[in-house]
Amino acid sequence: MADVTVTVLDNGPLLVRGPCQVSDHEGNTLSEGDAVVALCRCGESNTKPMCDGSHNQGFDGTLNPPS
Ligand code: FES
Repeated sequence: MADVTVTVLDNGPLLVRGPCQVSDHEGNTLSEGDAVVALCRCGESNTKPMCDGSHNQGFDGTLNPPS
């Protein structure tokens, strides 16, 4: 079993459970050692890459891609 797991929440963020480090595109640490981190999947967060709850305004996170 991995020390870190990533769960795709229904119509919500990617929930990362386990100690991890989140860095921006320049390598600056945004979060380190948190037990749970929610990463935005909807693109509407004002605190990207973290989820700020904006997905609650109607994000459709359907997992099945169009065929
Ligand atoms: S997934 Fe929560 S704000 Fe985007």
